[in-house]
Amino acid sequence: MNIPLVDLKAQYQDIKGEIDKAIQKVIESTQFAGGEELTGFEKEFAEFCGVKYGVTTSSGSTALDLTLLAFGIGEGDEVITTPATFIATSEAITHTGASIVFADIEPDSYNIDPKEIEKKITSRTRALIPVHLFGQPCDMDPIIELARKHNLILIEDAAQSHGAEYKGKRVGQFGDASIFSFYPGKNLGAYGHAGIVVTDREDIADKVILLANHGRHTKYEHSIEGYNYQADAIQTAVLRVKLKHLLNWNEKRRRNAKIYNSLLEATSVITPKEKEYAKHVYHLYVIKSERRDELAEYLNSKGISTGIHYPIPLHLQPAYKYLGLKPGSFPVTEEFCSKALSLPMFPELKEDEIRLIVEEIKRFFSLQ
Ligand SMILES: Cc1ncc(COP(=O)(O)O)c(C=O)c1O
Repeated sequence: MNIPLVDLKAQYQDIKGEIDKAIQKVIESTQFAGGEELTGFEKEFAEFCGVKYGVTTSSGSTALDLTLLAFGIGEGDEVITTPATFIATSEAITHTGASIVFADIEPDSYNIDPKEIEKKITSRTRALIPVHLFGQPCDMDPIIELARKHNLILIEDAAQSHGAEYKGKRVGQFGDASIFSFYPGKNLGAYGHAGIVVTDREDIADKVILLANHGRHTKYEHSIEGYNYQADAIQTAVLRVKLKHLLNWNEKRRRNAKIYNSLLEATSVITPKEKEYAKHVYHLYVIKSERRDELAEYLNSKGISTGIHYPIPLHLQPAYKYLGLKPGSFPVTEEFCSKALSLPMFPELKEDEIRLIVEEIKRFFSLQ
């Protein structure tokens, strides 16, 4: 048996004709930077999110960097985010010169807890970055309320949640600006690195465009210093094709999550909880088990790949030793990180394969 965590080959086989044609078109046009594929995708993805502007970037990480810079966040500012995320979220805060402030997560959604955010707000807080982890939106109403009350910039990190919904509305439209990653394994993934900033604010979109292209609107005039953080045309051509399939793929992920949930019901593992306000798009299917490491080893020995997102919470990473946060600082996050295990999840995963995975999980527990 060999069941991968993610199977990008199966997806490519399904849409090979469309993808090859789109890539070929870019090559023949020789429009590798900028051009119609890029602007077309930006428009289509912004519309998909229900916002006015989309500005593609070289990755989700650079989308975060440029968003924070566009809002003028910098030294002396504090930005609140979750310790249960990929480090790109907090790196972007440091890159501006601002300080990272972590707030603990909710025990059932694994997303940042609005009540914990409130406890961390000070006179220096400038922005909040909730992360819609694993494909499930954060509880946005209380977060929006806090941002309004304290006059804070709200930036959604939707890197893992393309097409997820909060109370019937797609993520990406709740923040002053939001970012997505198109890393290959994401629900909407490029064939390399890419990302996007989406926003209703023309001034922010314009600033991100400037920053991503050396501070210029025209070839030889640089109104500010910037970076070379634009996306490639080939990536956006691929994304344009794949965007048409995204909702269908998300439904297949949801179907697979349902199958897992029902088959795992009779076991001791804790399955993901879809909150009543959420349409979860299962970028990852993450269970919790007291015996996570042994279970992972057993499944891997049976040819079933697993992942751990994330084994070390950010506040305990060596990179953040300087923050002086000891174990016990964020107990809910720490408990989660000690038990979380990601099982294979992708649209093409078959019911039979899920049955085999669950049988092995049951066999592991019955062996003891
Ligand atoms: C929550 C989160 N934010 C940001 C990023 C960064 O995106 P990228 O890998 O495209 O730079 C990721 C990527 O995994 C992520 O999961």
